[in-house]
Amino acid sequence: MKREVGKMESRSYTGSFASIYDDVMGTVPYKFWYDYLQEIIKYYQLEVSKVLDLACGTGNMSLIFARDNYQVTGVDLSNGMLEVAREKAKEARLKINFIEADLCSFQLEEKYDLAISLFDSLNYILNLEDLKKVFQNVYYSLRDGGIFIFDVNTISRLMSIEPGTTILNGEDYTCIWEDIVNKEKKLWQVRLKIYHKDTGEYHEEFHQETGYKIAELREALQEAGFQDVDIYNAYTFTAASDNDNRVYFVALKNRTRPAERPVLRLVKNLKWGVKRFINGLY
Ligand SMILES: C[S@@+](CC[C@H](N)C(=O)[O-])C[C@H]1O[C@@H](n2cnc3c(N)ncnc32)[C@H](O)[C@@H]1O
Repeated sequence: MKREVGKMESRSYTGSFASIYDDVMGTVPYKFWYDYLQEIIKYYQLEVSKVLDLACGTGNMSLIFARDNYQVTGVDLSNGMLEVAREKAKEARLKINFIEADLCSFQLEEKYDLAISLFDSLNYILNLEDLKKVFQNVYYSLRDGGIFIFDVNTISRLMSIEPGTTILNGEDYTCIWEDIVNKEKKLWQVRLKIYHKDTGEYHEEFHQETGYKIAELREALQEAGFQDVDIYNAYTFTAASDNDNRVYFVALKNRTRPAERPVLRLVKNLKWGVKRFINGLY
């Protein structure tokens, strides 16, 4: 007889969701994101060997960096996500240090050249005071001249998500994904009901993301000590606006941005405009 575990969860990224995360996110263009990060690294003339992947999840981006011989540390709050990440690294024979910690309170002795946080992970930090703590912790983890690159969903993007329910059917699971938008509290919430066909187990979990204005994030980063902060509409080198969907922040520790190179910027924008179009990413 199949085991029925009726588990109501208020937290997110339990072992249950972690076990299906990579399948559910199967179309996420991690390699495309990696190429964009590399373009940013080149543009800012950053020498990178040590990378800190914050809210690394199941380690998809950590593994791509490690395969290219970077020394990678991944940090995440979810033990379930990290277990999957560790298993994948072991299978790929990659040495990656995965650490379970809350971004609001983590402290690492080592200093990194590059810190990243991708796939709207920082939208999970639900108030600006906590986000300021994250920025301070990241600042402390970077070497002088290091760079912090992260993406966020804008308020405009989160508030334009269509509420509704989608059924995701995997080989060994069914996941009922319900999008809820709370405009008053500026929250995008996702209720997941996951049924594991192989074990008969059933789990529920709840996700919440909030958005921030670009100006308040810039100010918070500067308050944490970052010197120059550049903000781009995702996959471009064009200054971001609050009306964009996803934006990328590039925050520099004890370093100023390189001199303006309008021709290079134009070339990069044209190249990435074509790439964005081909990949249908906006
Ligand atoms: C959308 S997933 C992104 C994971 C990964 N960056 C990727 O690109 O696949 C968000 C991740 O943020 C993590 N997370 C959320 N809040 C966190 C916190 N306060 N500290 C550390 N990790 C957190 C979750 O556990 C989850 O793995």
